[in-house]
Amino acid sequence: MSKVFVFDHPLIQHKLTYIRDKSTGTKEFRELVDEVAGLMAFEITRDLPLKDVTVETPVGQAASKKIAGKKLGLVPILRAGLGMTDGILRMIPAARVGHVGLYRDPATLKPIEYYVKLPADVEEREFIVIDPMLATGGSAIEAINSLKKRGAKTMKLMCLVAAPEGVEAVQKAHPDVDIFLAALDEKLNEKGYIVPGLGDAGDRLFGTK
Ligand code: PRP
Ligand code: URA
Repeated sequence: MSKVFVFDHPLIQHKLTYIRDKSTGTKEFRELVDEVAGLMAFEITRDLPLKDVTVETPVGQAASKKIAGKKLGLVPILRAGLGMTDGILRMIPAARVGHVGLYRDPATLKPIEYYVKLPADVEEREFIVIDPMLATGGSAIEAINSLKKRGAKTMKLMCLVAAPEGVEAVQKAHPDVDIFLAALDEKLNEKGYIVPGLGDAGDRLFGTK
């Protein structure tokens, strides 16, 4: 069974409060999502392996550390995942970025895939699948299926807010994929929205309805 991590860092929790607030406008919402994604990237990369190196400082030699050449890939789920991508890339600038395009059919709530483009060396990379919202879990499950079908071996899932139903569904479908969240909310409503959640992440990020 995969693990679920909820990041309780005060900066993440503080910014999430403003993200949730319905009076937060598009510009501020987008900036806050970007900032929280960067802070979450800091936490999610805690287990990156390091190697020992020596560096010449202006006054001598320092026994130091570098990340041991792990190949990382980010995969935002279009479109709301795009809102988290730049914040993560600022922390991990060498990561490659793939995209999976999915939207939730409003009637069935089932994900419909419309676009997939991944780095060529998909089998060698560790991927972070990114989406602000994990509601029924259908979109995340489908995105991970899509990556696995194309040869991806190692993945993490990073979302801002999740419903217990979505977490359970992803854990059942992909027990090898750990889930990283800023908040685990109460439930889904009858329209498949997370309660209390933050509303429609894509619409709030891009100013659509
Ligand atoms: C939202 C969200 C997730 C999905 C979550 O996307 O960004 O991708 O719903 O719901 P699920 O867990 O029930 O699948 P949406 O389909 O609204 O598309 P958008 O990103 O283009 O707005
Ligand atoms: N997608 C969203 O953007 N918000 C939700 O609460 C559920 C799915």
